[in-house]
Amino acid sequence: MQIPVTLIEQELKTFEKKFKEAVNSDVPLLDRVMRYIVKRKGKQLRPMFVFLTAKLCGTINESTYRAASLVELLHTATLVHDDVVDDAAERRGFFSVYALWKNKVSVLVGDYLLAKGLLLSLDNNDFRILQLLSEAVRRMSEGELLQMEKSRTLNLEESVYFEIIRNKTASLLAAACAAGAWSTTGDDEVAERMRTFGEAVGMAFQIKDDLFDYTAQNIGKPTGNDIKEKKLTLPLIYTLNNVDKKTRKELIYIIKNENTRKKSVDKVIDIVTKSGGIDYTIEKMEGYKRDALNILHHFPPSDVRDGFEDLVRFISDRKY
Ligand code: IPE
Ligand code: IPE
Ligand code: MG
Ligand code: MG
Repeated sequence: MQIPVTLIEQELKTFEKKFKEAVNSDVPLLDRVMRYIVKRKGKQLRPMFVFLTAKLCGTINESTYRAASLVELLHTATLVHDDVVDDAAERRGFFSVYALWKNKVSVLVGDYLLAKGLLLSLDNNDFRILQLLSEAVRRMSEGELLQMEKSRTLNLEESVYFEIIRNKTASLLAAACAAGAWSTTGDDEVAERMRTFGEAVGMAFQIKDDLFDYTAQNIGKPTGNDIKEKKLTLPLIYTLNNVDKKTRKELIYIIKNENTRKKSVDKVIDIVTKSGGIDYTIEKMEGYKRDALNILHHFPPSDVRDGFEDLVRFISDRKY
């Protein structure tokens, strides 16, 4: 499935140029890493959400472009750091920055990207947009830390899982949509409505990402990593809460003691699948998708709304 972008093709082209300019550096090492990052770009979903919300609510302008760059800068910074945290050697189908340059460079590169984002906004007086995005970054850190804390004690509560993903992932998509809407309307109420929309999309997005860990291969980053990191995500949480005592014990034993043994991890995946953990998780994801589409349908029918709807569907149907 291709990402449906025909409506904003021109904007995305301009965006890529601006994004490249936004990360340039005179320091040779930083410049090398930045070139590498720009070349191995991701799906750029968050900028797409900025442009589509902006277009849905008004007319795209320079502050929309800066909002898109800021969102992608922050996203990229968190990915560079996330691969250190998760000890992940692969990203976007190639070596992660962490794999090539290791811890120290990755930490500093993430900070550099964050600072570049802050300056881009501040130099242009985009205070409201920076505020929306900074709150998301705060929540992302809180979400990641809550996840870390909960992986130590093995979290079995769905509500905690949802809190984690709402913070670590949905908050940024929510802020991207709010910023896009704000850039073309300057209206807090519209921005808030689009924030709620983005949050629902973000929930579906991370649930899909967590499903990949159980069901997919060749998505350009490691799979099976969540069990290795003792990250209990919805498929496994559901399963642990719904199997017999003996199976539950066996699963917990593997997660605690054999989480790096491929055969054992495969067994976990098999039990999760057979116990309906995958189906249950898909249902939850579809629920968030419906919530998002309902909000979109409050807007009058238009090309932009249709294109937007396709993008929301892509989030849950995507193969990478
Ligand atoms: C990855 O996001 C991080 C998560 C929140 C799961 P994406 O899948 O959008 O990453 P890229 O930018 O396309 O690589
Ligand atoms: C999302 O979690 C990461 C961020 C919010 C930065 P994951 O750890 O699942 O993301 P991937 O799978 O490494 O992209
Ligand atoms: Mg990760
Ligand atoms: Mg993941």
